[in-house]
Amino acid sequence: MQSQSYHALSSADSQLANSQLIVDCSGASPNLLYWGAKLSDTTTADMLKALNIRQEAPSCCAEEAPISLSPMHGTGFLGQSGFRGHRAGLYKAPDCRIETVSQVNPQQLLIVTQDRANNIRFTHRLAMDPHSGIVQATTEVTNTADTELTLDRCDAPSLKVPSTLNQLISFEGCWAGEFQMQRNNRPTGIYSRENICGRTSHHNFPGLIITDQSSTETSGEAYGLHLGWSGNHRISTEILGDGRGTVQMGELLLPGEIILPAGGSYLSPTLYAGYSNTGFNGLSQQFHRYYRSAMRSQRTDNKPRPVHYNSWEAVYFDHQPAQLMQLAEEAASLGAERFILDDGWFRQRHDDSTGLGDWVVDSAVYPQGLHPLIEHCESLGMEFGLWIEPEMVNPDSELFRAHPDWVLGAESNQAILARNQLVLNLSLPDVQSYLLNSIQTLLTDHRISYLKWDMNRDIHQPMDHHGKAMVHQQTHSLYSLLAKIRQQFPALEIESCASGGGRVDLGILQFTDRVWVSDNNDALDRLAIQKGFSMFFPADIMGTHVGARKGHITGRTIDINTRAGVALFGHMGVEADLMALDRAERSCLQSAIVLHKRYRPLIHSGDLYRLDTPDYAHSFGIVAANKSQALFSYTLLTRHNSTLPQPIRLAGLEPDMMYTINTEWPSDCDPILPQQSRISGAALMNQGIQMPLLKPQMLVIFSLQKTTRDN
Ligand code: GLA
Repeated sequence: MQSQSYHALSSADSQLANSQLIVDCSGASPNLLYWGAKLSDTTTADMLKALNIRQEAPSCCAEEAPISLSPMHGTGFLGQSGFRGHRAGLYKAPDCRIETVSQVNPQQLLIVTQDRANNIRFTHRLAMDPHSGIVQATTEVTNTADTELTLDRCDAPSLKVPSTLNQLISFEGCWAGEFQMQRNNRPTGIYSRENICGRTSHHNFPGLIITDQSSTETSGEAYGLHLGWSGNHRISTEILGDGRGTVQMGELLLPGEIILPAGGSYLSPTLYAGYSNTGFNGLSQQFHRYYRSAMRSQRTDNKPRPVHYNSWEAVYFDHQPAQLMQLAEEAASLGAERFILDDGWFRQRHDDSTGLGDWVVDSAVYPQGLHPLIEHCESLGMEFGLWIEPEMVNPDSELFRAHPDWVLGAESNQAILARNQLVLNLSLPDVQSYLLNSIQTLLTDHRISYLKWDMNRDIHQPMDHHGKAMVHQQTHSLYSLLAKIRQQFPALEIESCASGGGRVDLGILQFTDRVWVSDNNDALDRLAIQKGFSMFFPADIMGTHVGARKGHITGRTIDINTRAGVALFGHMGVEADLMALDRAERSCLQSAIVLHKRYRPLIHSGDLYRLDTPDYAHSFGIVAANKSQALFSYTLLTRHNSTLPQPIRLAGLEPDMMYTINTEWPSDCDPILPQQSRISGAALMNQGIQMPLLKPQMLVIFSLQKTTRDN
C-alpha cells in the first residue's frame, strides 16, 4: 500500500484492532483516502482513488475541493473549514501545499504543508496505536510571517466518516446526570455542539459516535471520536451538500484568545478516534485498551485499585475528628483500603461560602492537625486521601482578601459567583507558585496518597482583568500545575472531579488516575451514567460509590444489594453514613467488597461487553482477554409484560469453550442454573440464558469460569 503518495497507518492484526487509515498525499494537500476496516493485501491505494472519482456535478466547480486534514476556504472548500484566522482584519484563507511527508514507522505520520503567500504552515501528526487501533491526531499551525496572526479556529485533523452512516450518538447531561446518550439522525449540513463552560462540561461531553440504525452494542459499524481537552470545545459532523461526510473537533477559541506572534505556533488538542465493525462494544474496548496500554501510569498499573471510603455524604461540612475516627474504623471493618477526607477540613470551611484558597488545616476543628486521623487510618490498614479545589477562591478567604486581583474576570464586568466562589487566574506566575507551594506543603507535612482534585464551577468570566480571553491558557496552566505536582510526588494519585463528572476527558487523564463520574450515587441513575461513560473510559478509573439507603440526590430508596452490585463494577467505594447502616446492610456491604476484591483484577483489566436488552433490563459483563473468566450483571429496571423476562444472549465468550456458571450476587440468590451445568460459549451467546424472576430495581450477578471435561 505504501508509496510516496499514499501513507497507511494500520493496527496490528487482531479481532479488536482491525482498522486502517490511508492518507493521500499525491495532490496539493493531504486528505484521508480511506478509514475503516482493514483491507486485503490485494487492495491498492490507486484502486481506492479510482473508486473515489466523482463526476462533475451541475452548478459546481469542475474539480471538487478536497476535504484535506484541515479543510480550507482558500482551496474553494465550502464546508466548515478546519482553520480560520486573520491578520489585522484581513481574512487569511490559506491554500496549503505539501512540503514534507515523513512516515517514521507504520504507525506514525507527519505531514507539513505551507501556504507561502500567506505565510502559514501546518503540521499534521497522525498516529495509530497498534494494539487498540485508536488514532491520535493533532494539527499545529505556525505563523511564518513577521506580523501577528489571530486564530479563530484550528481544529484537530478533519476525518472523513462516510455519510452512509446516518446516525449520531451524542452525550448530553447535567450535574448529577452526566453522559446521557442521545441517538439522532445525522443531518445533512452541520451538527455541532459547543462548550463554553471553561471545563469539559456536564452538558456537552466532547465525544461523538457515528453509526447507522442497524448497529447495536454487539454488531455493526461505528466510528467513535473524542477530543482530549478540558477547556472549551466545538465538536461537529457535517454532511456536505455534495454528500461527503466529515467529523471535526477542536478547541472553541474566544475572540482574540490566540494571537500568534511572528514564528509563534498553536497546537490543537488531540483527537482520539476509533473504528469498529463489531458494534459499540468493539469501539469502547479499543478506547479502554488504548487508555490502559498507552496512558495509564505505572503508579496504578501495578497496584490493585484500593476500595475507597469517602466522607462527603456522611458528614458534609460538619467535621468532628472523633466521628471521623469512628467512620474510619467502620470503613476499615467493611473492607475499605483508603479513607478520603472530603471538603470541610481547612480554615473557616463550615459551609461552601468560606475558606476556598486557604489550604491550611482548620485548627479550630483539628487542634492536633490531620495527623491523628491519618495515623488512625493507617493503623486500620487504610491509606489517606484528601479533597482540594485549588483553582478556586471564596471572596470570604484570607487569600482573596490579600489578592483580589488574582481571579479571572474583566474589571469592567461585575464578578459572577457560583457556589460562592471565583476562579483563580492560573496563568499568573504568583498564583501558580502559591498553589504549588500550598499543595507541596500539604503533601510533605502529611502522608497523603491521594488527592481528590475538584473544580466546582463553570468559568462564566473567561478573561483576565484586561479582558483577554483565557480558557486556553487556564487549561494549559492547570495541566502544567498538575504535571509539576506529579513530578514532585510520583507516587501520589489524583482524582479528577468537577461537581461530579464535569471534567472527564483524555486531556485531564494524562495527569490524573481516577474520575468522579457523578455526584449522583443513586444506583439506577448510575447505570445510565456509567453506560455513557463506558463508551470511552474503562472501569478501573470509574469512581463508583455505594451511597445511602435513600439517595441524597434522588431521594429514592434502593436495596443495598443493588447499590452494592452496581458500584462493584468500577473503582469501588462507599460514601454514606456508616453509623446509619443496619446489620443486614453492613454484612451485605462487607460481602460486596469481598466479591469486588475477588473479581477486581478481572473488572479492571477485562473487556466490557454491554448487552442488547429490552428496555426493561440493563445488562453487561466483563470478559477476561483469554476468555477463561467473565462476570455478568443483569438489572431489572421495570416490570416486563411477559410472565418471565426474555433470555439474554451473552457476548464476548469463546464459542468452543465450556463454562460453568456461578450465581454470585445477591449472596442469598438462588442459582440461575444448576451448579454443575457446563455450557458452551456458543450456546450462551446464541441461545442465551434465562434470567430469574426479579423484582424491579433488583439485580443478579453471575460469573463464568472456563472448565475442561476433567474438572
Ligand atoms: C463536589 C464534588 C463532591 C464533593 C463536593 C464537596 O460537588 O463532586 O463529591 O466533593 O464537591 O464540596
